[in-house]
Amino acid sequence: MSLFTDDFDSLVESRKAIRAFLTKPVPRELITNIIDVARLAPSNSNTQPWTVHIITGRAKRDLSALLGVAHIDPLTKPLVHLPDNLSQKYRTRQEQFGALFYGVQNVDKCDVNARSKVTSRNFEFFGAPVGLIFTVEMNLKKYSWMDYGMFLQTLMLAAQSRGLATCPQVSFARFQTVIADFLKLENDQEIVCAMSLGYADESSPLNQMRMPRESTHDFTHFIGFDQ
Ligand SMILES: Cc1cc2nc3c(=O)[nH]c(=O)nc-3n(C[C@H](O)[C@H](O)[C@H](O)COP(=O)(O)O)c2cc1C
Repeated sequence: MSLFTDDFDSLVESRKAIRAFLTKPVPRELITNIIDVARLAPSNSNTQPWTVHIITGRAKRDLSALLGVAHIDPLTKPLVHLPDNLSQKYRTRQEQFGALFYGVQNVDKCDVNARSKVTSRNFEFFGAPVGLIFTVEMNLKKYSWMDYGMFLQTLMLAAQSRGLATCPQVSFARFQTVIADFLKLENDQEIVCAMSLGYADESSPLNQMRMPRESTHDFTHFIGFDQ
């Protein structure tokens, strides 16, 4: 294995979702530099379906305030980000995530108010100085959303390699209308997710969590190798 392979694997292994950030600002040039790398991600017919809204300072605080209000508004519908009939193996992993995530914060997962308070930290971008909102044209198909996933992972790794930390956040998709109004989005733009970007607060227990992964053996089917 080349030195490059070891470096790459270490980079991928070192990335994790960060949910407590330092207030230390991130220079605009550094953000541009990271996105310059992310835009090299592959996409279906090279369509490059990503649009990124980068928000900081007062604008970020204003958006967070609006979302904080929307979050506790009983009229705001919950986000259905996984199907009701989620298969058991995925539900087990989701429950394992919940146990770790709420456990580290001493939150009883049956306590709806405590959970809501924890969730609301999403909309403060977990204290990160920069928030990213990713949008896509609504008429695009699932293949373009795959492109988006590749773009997002490339962006997170580019940030990680520069000493920055990230948390991708689908929770923002619940607030399509509020965010669309705030960012003055074109009518055809749908929110894919958001992302917190900044320097990790390494002292926070929230950032000590490591989410487990299934072993490769459990989800691969090698065919024709034994002949
Ligand atoms: C598309 C996507 C959406 C996510 N949305 C949220 C979110 O809204 N809030 C949050 O705290 N974490 C969110 N996460 C982070 C996941 O919980 C995290 O990636 C997963 O538990 C694996 O942990 P790791 O990234 O630390 O390895 C999201 C991750 C992805 C890929």
